Amino acid sequence: MVKKIMLVILAAALLLTVVESLTAQPPGRGSGGRRGGGISALQGHAPLPANEQERKILSVLEDMDRNQRRGMMNVPEQDGRILRLLTEAVGAKHVVEIGTSNGYSGIWFCLALRTTGGKLTTHDIDEGRASLARKNFKRAGVDNMVTLVMGDAHETVTKIKEPIDVLFIDADKEGYTDYLKKLLPLVRPGGLILSHNIDMVGQGFIDAITKNPNLETVQAQGVTMTLKKRQSK
Ligand SMILES: C[S@@+](CC[C@H](N)C(=O)[O-])C[C@H]1O[C@@H](n2cnc3c(N)ncnc32)[C@H](O)[C@@H]1O
Repeated sequence: MVKKIMLVILAAALLLTVVESLTAQPPGRGSGGRRGGGISALQGHAPLPANEQERKILSVLEDMDRNQRRGMMNVPEQDGRILRLLTEAVGAKHVVEIGTSNGYSGIWFCLALRTTGGKLTTHDIDEGRASLARKNFKRAGVDNMVTLVMGDAHETVTKIKEPIDVLFIDADKEGYTDYLKKLLPLVRPGGLILSHNIDMVGQGFIDAITKNPNLETVQAQGVTMTLKKRQSK
């Protein structure tokens, strides 16, 4: 009798394991912990490449997601997809990113920029992560769209003179307000300021993006999206 009960328990445990493995998310994607974001009907919906170039870039992103995340502080895959979608939707010609890391979010931007004919200027202070980024941009075949600027971005961004279509702030949290102050004048009307994980950035930044009547701010996943409004005619 005891043997029978043990066998039933064993069979139930086995069945549970099989069911769990069949319903589990594929590993890697969205390992930043924000996958799905409550839109359960879309969970597991992977980006579909429309051509060979897109397939190549997506496969590099997937490899980075699986094998390079440790210590890179990358945006989750879902946030990367939002960055790409917004950049392509506004037809961005110039994206400025503060916080390159190993190039993960930058490559999501490039996925859009290759169709808009635009370019990415990305800033980082850490040579180790930046050298990985250079390799990743190259193997994704997007290095010709990217300028990587080394140094303290609080200094290096002051050299930017061209208009910005999309500004992405994803570096030192205490610096968000300063980056915004220095670069908002360069963001074109109708352009976007995207800021990542603003939980720890301080009230000054939150006030700057929510109390200015010329800006409109909403959030999706870890991405805070701020529109620099156009003036009405
Ligand atoms: C959160 S990670 C960026 C992740 C990247 N956007 C991604 O999703 O792949 C922040 C990066 O900002 C860089 N950083 C921090 N302070 C900086 C500064 N003052 N100037 C330039 N880069 C800085 C760090 O070296 C780090 O690589």
